Amino acid sequence: MKFFIDTADIPEIEKLIPSGLIDGVTTNPSLIAKSGKDMGETIKTICSIVSGPVSAEVTATEYNKMLEEGEYLASLAQNVAVKVPLTPAGLQTCKALREKDIMVNVTLCFSAAQALLAAKVGATFISPFVGRLDDIGEKGMDLISDIVIMYENYGFDTEVLVASVRNTQHLIDAAVIGAHVSTLPPKVIHELYKHPLTDKGLKAFLDDWAKTGQQILPK
Ligand code: E4P
Repeated sequence: MKFFIDTADIPEIEKLIPSGLIDGVTTNPSLIAKSGKDMGETIKTICSIVSGPVSAEVTATEYNKMLEEGEYLASLAQNVAVKVPLTPAGLQTCKALREKDIMVNVTLCFSAAQALLAAKVGATFISPFVGRLDDIGEKGMDLISDIVIMYENYGFDTEVLVASVRNTQHLIDAAVIGAHVSTLPPKVIHELYKHPLTDKGLKAFLDDWAKTGQQILPK
């Protein structure tokens, strides 16, 4: 499973690169606003430090303007994936950008029917939002399962990018289902390492080792 990092915070991305876990980045207008930085510069910088896909989202809602924004964002770097909303204009833009061989991430997906439409217009990624579905009392992970089965049934190439991930369990459930990608907020990535038995076990090993007075490296 590929891990994308869901942030526009460049220092956070730089900190996580050495972990070797990061296969790409997703941003959205809210994350750009939170960063307080210029969008174009932010996307260019992220693309220069991450070799995988970097999602940059359009903000126009009408087809012609959306296409123009998408083409501009794609011109910023070769690894930009243009993010478009799951609307008729967004899907039309997706089709046009895919015909130019530009990667497209179709976002704000909340139903299996919507995911089917995105695959039919050749989306590179579909982003179903599990956390926001859970928030309204639905089972976000059921949607992931339906989309993975549906795409397998018809051999669609569109990758299922699990978005709005809030915790470790979301990631595990998505991986068990076989989703291709999860985009994770930095906080969730840090939590993945943690287990109380790891901490307890390490402390016991180090305490016992200290009692031996030995050092591994020759003096
Ligand atoms: C990523 O592509 C999405 O925009 C993001 O995961 C949404 O997450 P949120 O529901 O926590 O805002």
